Amino acid sequence: MNKHMHLNLFMLNTGHHEASWRHPDTTPERLTDIHYYAGLAQMAERAKMDSLFIADALVLTPAVKYKILGTPEPLTLLSALAMATERIGLIGTVSTTYSEPFNVARMFASLDHISRGRAGWNSVTSVGDATAANFGLEEHPEHGSRYGRAREYLEVLKGLWDGWEDDAIVADKQAGIYADYDNKIRPLRHRGEHFSVHGPLNIGRSPQGYPVLVQAGSSDAGMELAAETAEVVFTAQNSLQQATKFYADLKGRMRKYGRSPGELKVLPGFSPIIGATAAEAREKEAMLNELVMPQFGLIRVSNTMELDLSRYPLDGPFPLEDLPAADQVKGTKARHSMYVEMIRKEQLTIRQLIMRTASARGHFTITGTAEQVADEMEKWVVECGADGFNVMPPYFPAGFESFVNEVVPELQRRGLFRKEYEGSTLREHYGLPRPAHPSARQPEAASGLLFR
Ligand SMILES: Cc1cc2nc3c(=O)[nH]c(=O)nc-3n(C[C@H](O)[C@H](O)[C@H](O)COP(=O)(O)O)c2cc1C
Repeated sequence: MNKHMHLNLFMLNTGHHEASWRHPDTTPERLTDIHYYAGLAQMAERAKMDSLFIADALVLTPAVKYKILGTPEPLTLLSALAMATERIGLIGTVSTTYSEPFNVARMFASLDHISRGRAGWNSVTSVGDATAANFGLEEHPEHGSRYGRAREYLEVLKGLWDGWEDDAIVADKQAGIYADYDNKIRPLRHRGEHFSVHGPLNIGRSPQGYPVLVQAGSSDAGMELAAETAEVVFTAQNSLQQATKFYADLKGRMRKYGRSPGELKVLPGFSPIIGATAAEAREKEAMLNELVMPQFGLIRVSNTMELDLSRYPLDGPFPLEDLPAADQVKGTKARHSMYVEMIRKEQLTIRQLIMRTASARGHFTITGTAEQVADEMEKWVVECGADGFNVMPPYFPAGFESFVNEVVPELQRRGLFRKEYEGSTLREHYGLPRPAHPSARQPEAASGLLFR
C-alpha cells in the first residue's frame, strides 16, 4: 500500500482560526507585506511540502469589521512568491463564474512560465449575490448553471493551452522565422453555450503543458466535474468516516470518464493545534476560542446557511425549520449540508455552531501532540480517506512552525512523507503526468471538441 502523502499549505492571512488576527503572536499589520508571505512559503518549502494555496473571494463583506480580510490578489501574489521560492508548487483560486477564459488561460500559462512549471489553478464557482453585484449581475447564477459554465470553461482553457505545440517557437534568426505559425499554432475557434473564443492564446505552451487542475466543490455537481477534469481536490470533511465515504464516491465516479483513481489526489482540510502535551494543545485552542467575536461568526454562519440568524437568540435552538431546502441552496451546497448534519447530530445552538466551526469553518480540526497529529494523518491515508492534506494552521507563523518542526519530521521518520524533492514541477511533486499535446495523442483522443 502506498502510504506516501502529499501536503499543501493553505496560506490564509493570519491563520485559519477566525480569531487568529487577535492572537498576540500574529501580525495583522503585515497582511499586504510580500515578505510575510515569502517567509511562510519558504518555511513550507524547507518542509518539502508539495504546494501552497491562496484562496480568493471577489467581494468585501461588512464582516471585515470583525475579521481580517483583504489579502492581495492570488495570481499577483503567487508571481512574487515564484521568485522567492525554488521548488514548491503555487496554487491560486480564480472563479469560473466571474472571469473570462482567455484572460485566465493567459495568466496561468504566464505563472507556469514564471515559476518554471509550478502553477496550479483552483477553479471555483464562487458564492453569493454580493459578488454578482460587482460584476453587473442582479443575482448570483444558480448552482447548476454555474457548474455548466465551469465545465465549458475548462474545455476552453485546455483548448487554449493546447493551441501551441511544444516546439512551435523556432526562433530561426537566419531565416527570419520566429514561430511555426502554419503548422504548430492553431486557433481554437470555440463556439459554445457560454463562450465564444477564437484564439490562439498569445503565450506559448508552458512547462507543465497545463497548470495542475485543482477543484474544491464537494456537492454532487462539484464531484462530477472533479471526477471528469480535476487532478487535485480540496475538500472539507469533518471526520475520517465522512472522508472515506467522499474519497470512495469521488474516485468511483472517475471510471466512466476513462480515468484511473491515481490521476486525482484528494486532499481534505486538516487544521492541527499542536502542543508539547495534549493539555498544552488544549490550552492553545482555548486561548484562540476566547478571542472569537460572535458577531463575525454570526455573519459567517448566516452566509453559509443562507438564513439571517441575527433574528434568532444566539443561545436558543438552531432554527433548522427555517433553513432553505437542500435543493434551494444557491452557494456552497456541500458545506450547508455538513452544518445541518452537525447541528442535528450534536444538537447545537447558534453560538455552539459558531464555536464548533470557528477554528477551520468545518474542516477537520485536531488538538494534540505532534505524535497524535501524525497518527491521525497516517490513519486517514491508510484507511483511504485522503491522498494527503490541505494543511490549515490555526495561526501563522507559530502554529505552522510547530507543524513543520515537529509533525513533518515525525511523518518523515514513519516513511509517510518525502525528505527531499524528487522533481521540480508541481506535476512531478504530485506524481501527475504532463499532458501530451493533442498532436502527440492517440487520434481518437485528439479529435472531439478541441479544434472545432
Ligand atoms: C479548501 C477549499 C478551498 C476553497 N477555496 C475557495 C476560494 O478560494 N474561493 C471560492 O469562491 N470558493 C472556494 N471554495 C468553495 C468551493 O470551491 C465551491 O465553489 C463551493 O464549495 C460551492 O460548490 P459546492 O456546492 O460544489 O461545494 C473552497 C472550498 C474548499 C473546500
